[in-house]
Amino acid sequence: MKIAHIIPTFNEKDNIGQMIDMIFKIGRKYPNWENIVIVVDDRSPDNTAEIVKKYRKKYKNIHLLLKKKEGLGKALGLGYEYAVKKIKADVVIPNDADFQWDPVDYPRLIGKIREGFDVVVASRHVSGGKAVGWNWFRKLNHDISNSLLAWYVAGVHEVSDHAGNFKAIRVKNVLDKVPLEKMKNAGFSFQLHILYELSKTGARFTEVPVTFKERKLGQSKIGFNRYYIRDIFEYIKSSILIRLDRSQSFFKYAVVGVTGLLIQTAISKLLISLGLIPAISVSIGAEMAILSNFLMNNYWTFSKHVISGIKLFHKFIQFNTASFGAVIIQGLVVFTGTSLFGDEYWFWSMIFAVFILVIPYSYYIYNRFIWKTHIKKAVI
Ligand code: GDD
Ligand code: MN
Repeated sequence: MKIAHIIPTFNEKDNIGQMIDMIFKIGRKYPNWENIVIVVDDRSPDNTAEIVKKYRKKYKNIHLLLKKKEGLGKALGLGYEYAVKKIKADVVIPNDADFQWDPVDYPRLIGKIREGFDVVVASRHVSGGKAVGWNWFRKLNHDISNSLLAWYVAGVHEVSDHAGNFKAIRVKNVLDKVPLEKMKNAGFSFQLHILYELSKTGARFTEVPVTFKERKLGQSKIGFNRYYIRDIFEYIKSSILIRLDRSQSFFKYAVVGVTGLLIQTAISKLLISLGLIPAISVSIGAEMAILSNFLMNNYWTFSKHVISGIKLFHKFIQFNTASFGAVIIQGLVVFTGTSLFGDEYWFWSMIFAVFILVIPYSYYIYNRFIWKTHIKKAVI
């Protein structure tokens, strides 16, 4: 297994050497792993690059990418692309140079990859994970970006820790499906954006608890400096764009629903005009609407998770069963509504049932059970 460790650096001369040593030292315990270190340095004024060049004499598997100062996001984007396209790695592990995320934990991340997960995030927010030595400013910062923006605004729920760098990502059918060249994040919003892009590939996510420690040597680059405001605005912008992108499938689903209703009405009317009794006409119309909803959702709304072949038939039966659930919901709500408020309230009870319950219910069932948008089909 080829593992590419990506280390972005800006003024890390005191840490980078020790970090490289540590990665290879741990790697020696696992003879089947080929470890490759990619350092992406923004031509640090402290000459971090010179240290890396020295280490290249000690180890053969070190790559140094030098570029101008642009920010963490750009450095990571370049490192990821290099790992996928040039190195052709099987797994990519980004980490910081400063030992806040302990490299000792990387075999645990790989362990989860071998279990079949595609994205394994080192996390401070699962049981057993924590951060030590944070001041109130740092904590507030983290809570706003992680909880408020990433979780609620962007709606990225695959993991609970969105901000850190340390993770293991499978390349085949996962990272290689992400359009890295299109990601324009300059700053730390890259971390949230890449999680979102990975979620769109259908990747299976998990988190591993770790302790986020204090920086070993040198100073933090992320904090109240001249890039800070730019990075915060970029983070807010990314969160909103992710939310809009997410709602696209809901929008398509709504269009499909309305089209279904039109088809049902048209077919029912046609059949009635041809002399068929209304009950049968409407039933046929409804079934045609279900069929059109199913096909349109399959080839349009959920086209990234398209069902094909013999499974299409099996799933169509499942889809019909789900539609039956919607019928039951409406029946129960209309029954309750009319019992409480009187028969003339049947229409508003039905509208309530459709908009408040049936639409979210169906959307949930489709995502979860029919097209399984959160679960990856094949494991290893
Ligand atoms: N090439 C490059 N260019 N590297 C950078 C830049 C940059 O502009 N800015 C920071 N880095 C490198 C640092 O040298 C370090 O190796 C790593 O990125 C993390 O930066 P720190 O200075 O240690 O910042 P932090 O401790 O606040 O970072 C935390 O938040 C980040 C963003 O959410 C950690 O949780 C990181 O893992 C996380 O990416
Ligand atoms: Mn740090």
